[in-house]
Amino acid sequence: MDSGRDERSHFQDGTSQLHPRRGRLTLGQSQNHNVMKTIASISTVPLALATFLTLFPTAGHAADPNAITEEARDKFIQNFQRIGLNTTPGDAMLLRILVQSTGAKRGVEVGSATGYGAIQMGVGFERTGGRLITIDIDPDMVRQCRANLAQAGLDKTVTVVEGDALKVLPTLEGEFDFVFIDALKQDYLKYLKAIEPKLKRGAVVVADNVIRSANQMRDYLEYVQSSPTYETTTVRASMEKNDGMTISFKRR
Ligand SMILES: C[S@@+](CC[C@H](N)C(=O)[O-])C[C@H]1O[C@@H](n2cnc3c(N)ncnc32)[C@H](O)[C@@H]1O
Repeated sequence: MDSGRDERSHFQDGTSQLHPRRGRLTLGQSQNHNVMKTIASISTVPLALATFLTLFPTAGHAADPNAITEEARDKFIQNFQRIGLNTTPGDAMLLRILVQSTGAKRGVEVGSATGYGAIQMGVGFERTGGRLITIDIDPDMVRQCRANLAQAGLDKTVTVVEGDALKVLPTLEGEFDFVFIDALKQDYLKYLKAIEPKLKRGAVVVADNVIRSANQMRDYLEYVQSSPTYETTTVRASMEKNDGMTISFKRR
């Protein structure tokens, strides 16, 4: 209960100090001075802390071993030793742009190889605050893909799952808004059907090699081009492989 009297600390040298948190606001000059000194000492603590953290921003945190500068990442992508299976730089950049421009949050790639496409999509997902799952059946590809993603500082954004996509896709939980299909050409429609129940309205489905391998994926092309669920176009983002990709928008 408030007694209405000033609450003070009394010291041995005969001086006393008003307690600043419990004291009343009507103070005499010397009391006021003491309170101001106390308040000043309290308020300089956060100020000093803020200055310290500005000068040493990582203080108090363990350094992130995966931290990489944008320049270092760009250089890594530029010097990436692509293998024949990897998507072309033009196609991979189109994938990244699609992820970013649609603001996709949950993506899945069918067929990772060594991760060139996953890295470019990963940059996009990092920027949208999303995540990508990439699946490959070949353990050696999985190992290389994981190592490359770690080097690009994207191993927290992209998860590599080892296994047959036809078995893995039905086990994935939640909804997806971005899909990149790039594994066995004759199985494209099966991959799409396996993930389709989890596709959000507005999802984008991209399929690679749809020009040169068109004969092996007739059922897929017919499905995305004639189904009222999808709006589909074919694009050629690079001439490197004389090939192209379909982009399908799930409109309902
Ligand atoms: C063309 S590469 C993928 C290239 C990759 N998307 C990129 O952007 O660099 C095809 C990959 O699909 C993988 N693959 C083939 N059949 C698969 C399946 N049933 N499930 C998962 N991955 C498969 C192969 O091991 C191969 O690494």
